[in-house]
Amino acid sequence: SSHYPNTATVATVDKNITLLPVIAGMNVYPEYIANGALVVDDVTGHIVDYGSNEAMLASYAQTNDQAPVKIHNYQDKLIMPGFIDTHVHYPQIDMMAAYGEQLLDWLNNYTFVTEANFADPKIAHDTAKFFLEQLLANGTTSAMVFSTSHPESAEAFFTESHRLNTRMITGNVLMDQNAPEHLCVSAEQSIKDAQDLIDKWHGRGRQHFAITPRFAITSTPKQLQLAGELYASYDTVYLQTHLAENRDEVAFVRKLYPNHKGYLDVYEDMGLLGRYTTLAHGIYLETSEYESLRETGTQIAHCPTSNLFLGSGLFDLPKTLSYTGVSIATDVGAGTSLSMLTTLNEAYKVQQLQSNQLSAHQGLYQITLGNVQSLVLDDKIGNFMPNKEADFVVIDMAATPLLRRRMAQTKTLDEQLFVLMMLGDDRVIKETVIAGVSRYKSRSL
Ligand code: GUN
Ligand code: ZN
Repeated sequence: SSHYPNTATVATVDKNITLLPVIAGMNVYPEYIANGALVVDDVTGHIVDYGSNEAMLASYAQTNDQAPVKIHNYQDKLIMPGFIDTHVHYPQIDMMAAYGEQLLDWLNNYTFVTEANFADPKIAHDTAKFFLEQLLANGTTSAMVFSTSHPESAEAFFTESHRLNTRMITGNVLMDQNAPEHLCVSAEQSIKDAQDLIDKWHGRGRQHFAITPRFAITSTPKQLQLAGELYASYDTVYLQTHLAENRDEVAFVRKLYPNHKGYLDVYEDMGLLGRYTTLAHGIYLETSEYESLRETGTQIAHCPTSNLFLGSGLFDLPKTLSYTGVSIATDVGAGTSLSMLTTLNEAYKVQQLQSNQLSAHQGLYQITLGNVQSLVLDDKIGNFMPNKEADFVVIDMAATPLLRRRMAQTKTLDEQLFVLMMLGDDRVIKETVIAGVSRYKSRSL
């Protein structure tokens, strides 16, 4: 018989509270409640409670003398915490699926050409808005994002995200060498731009700043050093860059920095490592580099669709996890999908090629609370603990004829979630809620 989540009711206790139906709150252990309900405070946008539909209705829907509770009935749907994308380039949605090149040529022939357009604030605003709408349509509620080297591109992204009240992280990209001149900003000016953006946006509403050197190749030692000094002067400002994605890239860094032990040593020497640092990729690392990651608490973002698209290589998930925290990310526009489900699909295949496993529980945990822990945001989002911000997605496990048919053959929740992870994408996302406010509804809902 089919076990995919059935039934529910939506309720509200007083006018401030909304009850929802079926829940999978991915806790430290994955938690699944058939016929569940989620209670949200509509005023604060925070989670009040969750549990069985019956218990929630009894506790919250029948108080006397109060305005009626709003009840949303998401019959046969699955409610999960919103998905988190820890590494993605918003300007690159305009150049996804660019043909034929690996990393360094791809950057020169496609990426830098597109990013030059973001000198125009109108293009930056329009693209940021479109990108955020696409994230919501894919069930992604928070992301750590690259803008371009134009401070206006980060300003535009923060403005659009603040308007939606999404919890987002970005920063102006630091580049002052080995890139087209019109994309380079001097070390001093780029750090001043970053400082101004920190002053204006870091901690404003749900926005966070990330110091964002593109990678070792496109920054002078001076720019990396100033980035490290800025990072050291804040407790909760993030730092994001790329690391050891491609063999030619690693060789180029060794040539630029012949007196350093390796790629990661350049970043360590400049003071760029730490618990608020996320480095994308980390495919080609030595044992001493894994040890530096562990010692500094530096996190790695694994980007499977990007690694396969650019032919970069196969990321060793269990090995990296044995040293430090790993998140999973799309890396659009080298990544080929904004869907975190599609990203898990490809992560599974990358591990299969190395005889490693990635279960549905591990995968779905990773794109929710796991990624949130990597970003040190687990006091705010990632699951349905009371007082966390109510960012969640409503999923239709039978959104397509094929999914409906395949789900009908499943016997266990594990099977259903694995089918969701392998066959699901933006089509299964029926609604996306940000801090208690519905921000996306699929047309068919
Ligand atoms: N390394 C430096 N810049 C980039 C980028 O934009 N995308 C990817 N995938 N790798 C990079
Ligand atoms: Zn990237």
